[in-house]
Amino acid sequence: MLDLVESKFGQHEAFRADVLGGLAQRQKTIPARWLYDQRGSELFEEITGLDEYYLTRTETAILRRNSGEMAGLLGEDAVLLEYGAGAGIKSEILIDALKAPRMYVPIDIAADFLAQTAARIRDRFPELPTRPIITDFTADFDMPADIPAQRRAAFFPGSTIGNLGQSEAAALLRRMRQHVGERGKAMIGVDLRKDVEILIAAYDDKRGVTAEFNLNLLRRINRELNGSFPLEAFAHEARWNEHESAIEMHLVSRKPQVVSVAGRGFAFAQGETIHTETCRKFDVAGFAYAAQQSSWRVDRVWSDPAELFAVFGLHAHAFFPSQLAPEVGLPAAIGY
Ligand code: AVI
Repeated sequence: MLDLVESKFGQHEAFRADVLGGLAQRQKTIPARWLYDQRGSELFEEITGLDEYYLTRTETAILRRNSGEMAGLLGEDAVLLEYGAGAGIKSEILIDALKAPRMYVPIDIAADFLAQTAARIRDRFPELPTRPIITDFTADFDMPADIPAQRRAAFFPGSTIGNLGQSEAAALLRRMRQHVGERGKAMIGVDLRKDVEILIAAYDDKRGVTAEFNLNLLRRINRELNGSFPLEAFAHEARWNEHESAIEMHLVSRKPQVVSVAGRGFAFAQGETIHTETCRKFDVAGFAYAAQQSSWRVDRVWSDPAELFAVFGLHAHAFFPSQLAPEVGLPAAIGY
């Protein structure tokens, strides 16, 4: 309990520091993880069901269609480590297909959300030991000693890896590689590059749910950090950054204005933005290369017929951080 209180206090301080520091930058930027308070998480759930947001239903269909093959790749007695406590049914699809899974280990900083996920999985798979870990998986942490060391497999669906900076994503891939050990496996979902109009529509839907999700960050700042953001004076924007191969979400100031947060003033010119999220899009070769640099090799890539999304099946490779192997280990073909 004390841990939870301390972590909530630590969270508040971290939010304050990120917002005050981020608004003082030339390009005002607030890290995307602060979008996910209770309301933000609910809005994100709503986004996953939108017509324009193809990611969730496409990945779910890939998992359903190929779960047998995926389970075969992970093998018997798998210890499934899920980075982020999935609210959806993706982990259930995979667990259901696994042969005699040994343990399910959801890892997330959001304790309440984690407890809900663990309860749902326990309900559905009462025989399967479920061992939640409350921690920020984007920072270094050791696997607790009670988690079996053999046959570990990392599961990171949703293209959440695309929300991390490039070095943060590489660090997470290395961390997963350390966690699973030298015979470990991984299943990672990534959103693929495609027509910019499809991408923009996915992040700027007609019903305005994504706009609401983005603007909710200002509501959170007003509530938790005594902010004075007038929500109607900011607009949601989704833009494509070709150089970063990413959709960026911004909040655009509709007029010149000064806003206060925790007693400090921040000036906005008309049209000036706060960058609130980056959603990187990959191509198969590029992601395989990034995985290889973090000591993984690609076993298989599953995709959908339109090649909107891909799930990578990886196996651990020896750690040679400074040495790039000459063969990039690209898969011969994409499996549908
Ligand atoms: C959580 N993450 C994978 C979502 C994405 O598509 O990058 C977050 C999101 N932001 C706006 N819509 C969805």
